[in-house]
Amino acid sequence: MHLLLSLGVFWLLPLALTLEEDSPVDCFPRRTVLYHRDNAYLFYEEGVYNYSTMLLREDLGLLMLGAREAVYALDLNDISKKQASVKWEVTEQQQNECKNKGKDPKLECKNYIRILHKMEDGRMYVCGTNAFDPECDYMSYMDGKLTLEKNTDDGKGRCPFDPFQRHASIMVDNDLYSATSMNFLGSEPVLMRSPPQSIRTEFKSSWLNEPAFVSMIHMPESDKSPTGDDDKVYLFFSETAVECDCYNKLVVNRVARVCKGDLGGERTLQKKWTSFLKARLDCPVLESQLPFLIQDTYRWCDPQRPWQDCLFYAVFTPQSDTSDLSAVCAYNMLDIARVFSEGKYKAPVHVETSFVKWVMYSGDVPVPRPGACIDNDARKEGINQTLDLPDRTLQFIRDKPLMDQVIEPKGEEPLLVRRGAKFTRIIVNQVQAADGKMYDVMFVGTEDGTILKAVNYDKEMFIIEEVHLFKSPEPIKILQFSQKTGWLYAGSDSGAVQIPLATCRRSSSCMDCVLARDPYCGWDKDAGKCTDLSSTQKELIQSVKDGNASLCQDTGPIKPLEESIWPGGNLKLDCPKPSNLATTSWERDNRPLTLSSRHELLQDGLLILNASLADAGLYHCVSIERSKTDEYTSTVAMYDVTVMPPGSGKGDRTSFPEAQRDGPSVAGLQAVVALLTICLVGLVGWNCYKGHLPVPWKNRNKNGGQSQENHEQGDLNGSRIQQDTRPENKPLVSAVNSGSSNNNHNSEEAADAENVNQPSLQYIDDESEI
Ligand SMILES: *[C@@H]1O[C@H](CO)[C@@H](O)[C@H](O)[C@H]1NC(C)=O
Ligand SMILES: *[C@@H]1O[C@H](CO)[C@@H](O)[C@H](O)[C@H]1NC(C)=O
Ligand SMILES: *[C@@H]1O[C@H](CO)[C@@H](O)[C@H](O)[C@H]1NC(C)=O
Ligand SMILES: *[C@@H]1O[C@H](CO)[C@@H](O)[C@H](O)[C@H]1NC(C)=O
Ligand SMILES: *[C@@H]1O[C@H](CO)[C@@H](O)[C@H](O)[C@H]1NC(C)=O
Repeated sequence: MHLLLSLGVFWLLPLALTLEEDSPVDCFPRRTVLYHRDNAYLFYEEGVYNYSTMLLREDLGLLMLGAREAVYALDLNDISKKQASVKWEVTEQQQNECKNKGKDPKLECKNYIRILHKMEDGRMYVCGTNAFDPECDYMSYMDGKLTLEKNTDDGKGRCPFDPFQRHASIMVDNDLYSATSMNFLGSEPVLMRSPPQSIRTEFKSSWLNEPAFVSMIHMPESDKSPTGDDDKVYLFFSETAVECDCYNKLVVNRVARVCKGDLGGERTLQKKWTSFLKARLDCPVLESQLPFLIQDTYRWCDPQRPWQDCLFYAVFTPQSDTSDLSAVCAYNMLDIARVFSEGKYKAPVHVETSFVKWVMYSGDVPVPRPGACIDNDARKEGINQTLDLPDRTLQFIRDKPLMDQVIEPKGEEPLLVRRGAKFTRIIVNQVQAADGKMYDVMFVGTEDGTILKAVNYDKEMFIIEEVHLFKSPEPIKILQFSQKTGWLYAGSDSGAVQIPLATCRRSSSCMDCVLARDPYCGWDKDAGKCTDLSSTQKELIQSVKDGNASLCQDTGPIKPLEESIWPGGNLKLDCPKPSNLATTSWERDNRPLTLSSRHELLQDGLLILNASLADAGLYHCVSIERSKTDEYTSTVAMYDVTVMPPGSGKGDRTSFPEAQRDGPSVAGLQAVVALLTICLVGLVGWNCYKGHLPVPWKNRNKNGGQSQENHEQGDLNGSRIQQDTRPENKPLVSAVNSGSSNNNHNSEEAADAENVNQPSLQYIDDESEI
């Protein structure tokens, strides 16, 4: 009983701890959808891994999926249906050569498909790492068959050697633009356009300095351009800052761009980009000093609007382990274009013989403007192509490719910040809600194999749900969206999945449907269903900005479920929380239930132990969820509990209330204890993972060092358990109530501890005040 009692206190911890998560810096998903087969269509093949390259062939109704040593053509409407596949395996000889160069034969000496692009003639261009000897080939899909032409190109400079190295590529007008490493060691980075008009970056640290390439995007800037501008290709990456005046290596984010029509210079910059310009990109996260690093981007454009109105969404993760936050920032295309077309340049200044400082360049800038594409003004001067550019312009750009101005995100702050599993990929879809307004919905993949669906409502971050796509946590390696089918496609090491943008039927009540604030979903009063907006003309109840559920009518009285129990027995009353943001409470006979030592409040219900006659009554489980406008209360479950009086029914049982044969028994109690213990372990684990409880081996506190030590001391020999079990003799109800205030107090204490380096005992003592 003692043990059970202390376990009960543990159950209250997450309740109290979730309150801490309301801090403005990050955001918690309203709903968590656990893995279920029916959440997604799944594709994987036995023995094949690393499904991390995708090409949408909406014209063929296919999803091309590149994995390790294989390419698949899957039905775009149901990717579990394989239409065709082709193997591209390394030969034994290639594998041996790779092995002899010191690489892992089972892991690195394989052919990882890394590039899949559509050619103008409908064929596809495929590249693979090919046992550290990258190669490219043409592939066609005809009569239900995928064929590699065996007409191979050297993949050097197009595809990485190392399957673990990041790269980026894009096909524009049949020309492959690639950003990767050109050599076996992975030490010679390049941004290049493949032959026939081959052109590349200078091998200089001021151009690319230990970069990690992320993505490439083509912008059709020549379209109706009044200045006769050219199309551009943008490259997002992170690299070691050359301009940093600092002791340690500092990595920063960059966006670089080149002009599509660039042919290189005549004498200076021969076969090199004359239009390579780059600028720093920031995503300021409140608590971090080091810049967060870019991991993926998504270009969102309204087809009705000019390219200047496009937005780039990007996910960022910290560059050191001291933080477990991830963020999403969005950038206006126009802000980026302006920095390149009008901004100042940075220039290196030799301060001492060996020391170079990068400062804003304020001298004369040659004409044509260095790095600009050939436009009407240049043509007027007789400069029809980059080969005609004067040396002065070319020398300038060769030495000063970095812009001075830093590109800040739209609104100057992240759209989404979340503590926990790192963000890996992002897709954004715009949808019109019932209020007639358009909302950008972010779908963010994480290292745990979850997809977060989130919206930023007037600077309020809101995560509608978090869906677990895979059985066990594994990083989302690629995310794609098909405008044509309206499905999302995600790939990981173990498989690929296809999920809808919205699953409105996850909400079964009007309240839940409206409080979910999902712009795709609304409550259909007549049908009594949460429905996809696009599937109906009817007016639906929705309130995405405010979460105002006042139009939801009372569902009417729900019928209580009958439960009966023997004295001395145990009974669990289920009450699943409709939302992570809701709290539940119990009433008996319309009065708040006074919890005694025989009651266990569970995450998803109430456990009555060692029942007595006084436990009979009508139980209500009430959920309370606060939205922006109001607090909404709804009855989740109702139970009519009767306790069989001793002597009723089977007389012989009365003298053995804890009979072994049926009903609640010692075995049952043991099972409950075992279950609780398992849950407890899980819970403690979860809390440790979330950073609510300190763990010696994994410190998730932002300020690292000191506080980690503090926590470790309090942790090493299990004093943590003690601290949590101490308040066992206080009534549980008061524990709930004091939970919130105490918790705030605690987080303050924790913050204090970080600043002042208070001894660990302080921390424990505070905890015990719960
Ligand atoms: C490929 O998948 C395997 C199995 O999950 C994993 O161990 C390996 O790290 C992956 N390789 C790459 C390059 O991601
Ligand atoms: C540039 O093009 C114009 C018209 O196409 C032509 O008249 C002119 O000679 C060209 N200039 C050079 C330097 O090639
Ligand atoms: C159950 O409750 C009765 C009295 O209500 C008490 O005598 C008994 O010791 C309790 N049993 C357990 C296992 O706590
Ligand atoms: C919520 O919606 C109802 C009905 O539309 C409206 O009367 C009420 O003012 C709204 N409440 C708030 C706080 O906006
Ligand atoms: C556990 O705590 C005691 C004091 O309470 C201390 O003497 C002992 O060294 C600690 N054990 C470990 C493994 O740190």
